[in-house]
Amino acid sequence: MKKDILITAALPYANGAIHIGHILEYTQADIYNRFQKMIGNNSIYCCADDTHGTPIMLKAKERGITPQELIAEASINHQNDFKDFLIEFDNYYSTNSPENKELVEFFFNTLNQKGHIEKKEIEQAYDEQEQMFLPDRFIKGTCPKCGAKDQNGDSCDVCGATYSPLDMADAVSVVSGKKPIKKSSTHYFFKLTHFERELKELLQSGFVNEQTANKMNEWFKEGLQDWDISRDAPYFGFKIPGEDEKYFYVWLDAPIGYIASLKNYCDRHNIDYKKFWTKDSENKSEVYHFIGKDISYFHTLFWQASLMGVDFRTPKHIFIHGFITVNGQKMSKSRGTFISARTYLNNLAPEYLRYYYASKTNGRLEDVDINFEDFVSKVNSDLVGNFVNIISRSAGILGKHFDNTISTLNEEGQVLLNKIREKKNEIANAYNECKYINAVKETLLLCDEVNKYYEENKPWVLVKEDKEKAQKVLTLGLNAARVLMIYLKPILPSLAKKVEKFFNEENYTFNDVETTLENVKLNEFERLMERVDIKSVEKMVEDTKKELEELNKSKNQNVKEEVNASDITPILPEITYDDFAKVDLRVATVENAEIVEGSNKLLKLTLNIGIEKREVFAGIKSSYSPEKLIGKKVIMVANLAPRKMKFGVSNGMIIASGEGELISVATPLDSEKAKSGDRQF
Ligand code: 2FM
Ligand code: ZN
Repeated sequence: MKKDILITAALPYANGAIHIGHILEYTQADIYNRFQKMIGNNSIYCCADDTHGTPIMLKAKERGITPQELIAEASINHQNDFKDFLIEFDNYYSTNSPENKELVEFFFNTLNQKGHIEKKEIEQAYDEQEQMFLPDRFIKGTCPKCGAKDQNGDSCDVCGATYSPLDMADAVSVVSGKKPIKKSSTHYFFKLTHFERELKELLQSGFVNEQTANKMNEWFKEGLQDWDISRDAPYFGFKIPGEDEKYFYVWLDAPIGYIASLKNYCDRHNIDYKKFWTKDSENKSEVYHFIGKDISYFHTLFWQASLMGVDFRTPKHIFIHGFITVNGQKMSKSRGTFISARTYLNNLAPEYLRYYYASKTNGRLEDVDINFEDFVSKVNSDLVGNFVNIISRSAGILGKHFDNTISTLNEEGQVLLNKIREKKNEIANAYNECKYINAVKETLLLCDEVNKYYEENKPWVLVKEDKEKAQKVLTLGLNAARVLMIYLKPILPSLAKKVEKFFNEENYTFNDVETTLENVKLNEFERLMERVDIKSVEKMVEDTKKELEELNKSKNQNVKEEVNASDITPILPEITYDDFAKVDLRVATVENAEIVEGSNKLLKLTLNIGIEKREVFAGIKSSYSPEKLIGKKVIMVANLAPRKMKFGVSNGMIIASGEGELISVATPLDSEKAKSGDRQF
């Protein structure tokens, strides 16, 4: 019986490009969808751009466009990348859609009516200059636990501690560079705790892999926290009904976006989207989510509880994968391994990566490593050398000696072909369980057998000795390759199309495995797939590095332009040369520099100006350590009236520019030419 199946992959944020890390998941889900269709199920693969939230709002502002313009552009780019990776969604939509708005309000109102939402006043970091509350990742400061500088507002990369940005003594807003204040505001909280029992029951159903189940048990032990589902204006998202200045948090509307995308599809195809979500026992439809482990908390707890709260059915399974590493390390921009989908596509064919990812998809949580050597070797020896080669060399002989016509199988051939067919269920199960690694392995073992059969029978020799037998051997080889192609079709759809064309067929389904082709003329053979050249992989890495350089260049350019155009202190009123000549600027050698106890900013300098020594306090501690200054030549105002400061008297001033960590002390350009006490002019 045909099943109705909904497949989703996590919705990509609209403020970033798709990279090869993303492609793992969309490919996994795409393979699942293609397989389900091939076995005759009504499968729908839905996705959408995740369009709301502060980062998207700020990114649009930075680029001087509206969030709507930003998300429209992202949608086109994302869809082009997916299409070129042969990722075929049945619907690709947007969370900023009327369907989503309606559904989010339905979820909120229902949860609220059922008493699962509570209003609470909370204190948060607020940027007074930008007049906005700051999400944790828009705050930087020193880790309150280990003292590491420049850490995010919620967690420390150095010691792993998690905390509130309000605990950071020196927190600054990434948006304005100013210190945030504490400000209170009323928020809406979803009572996750109300669903603890049901979530624990769900866990027993095996809806996630073993490693995630263990993780969930840890979360239960730590205790569930209620979830803040609201954000204050300014925010790009959906307004909360009855509120003027409050919005739904992006993570509330994002997973509801799965349903919105489905609804949009169903409305256009006259299908009732609700059939995927009703709880009645007659409902045989199935929902599968594909996600990465970084968002499993949201999907296994918040999202499931939200569905439970509105009486919707929960998904049958969530397939969760680990992160991508490249050559054993985290993807890195400077190493050229943070590769965008487009840069990959500019250099390599999509099916290489689809195949490589499939060959590593085992349904478990561990990270997936792209090792470039392994990638090249798997594609060249397993895919091209082992599988594609069966068809290419058979087609070569068939074209040359048999006018592209196959004959019949001999008994040996029947046996081997049946053996290949017998693996159908095993391979189908591997796809169904998202253990594509097994589908690939089994298929390759069968390829080995066909190649072995060729090595034993040598049709390229037989053709000269026993033409009839040679044709039968080729008939087996090509029938076998056809079945093996059907096994690999969910992974390699474009290759499958070429093979279908060669056999003069269309749209292979899994059942086509059972058909035998005999006494037919095949089409002219066209090359199916090239070997991958390591040089293309190297070029892809080089291109990625170049992109980073270009980006940095244009950032610097922007900084320069901003500096030129922005609000630098205006030029002061004109003075005469005589006025200027009153300022006694001298070269001074820093004889000593020391930290001033109790001051965050000052260093105490002992300056030698030839005729005498001076003690000067300079506010340059943020940029210079004392050791760095000792022995250096600087320029000082020697006739500035002494100034009494908290820590002593400053007898002069050194010349410097900039602020914060960007202070730069002025020095004579050729310091060896300059002597202490020289006048500057
Ligand atoms: O982590 C992310 O990239 C999110 N945009 C995923 C959202 S998935 C779903 F919940 F919508
Ligand atoms: Zn720390």
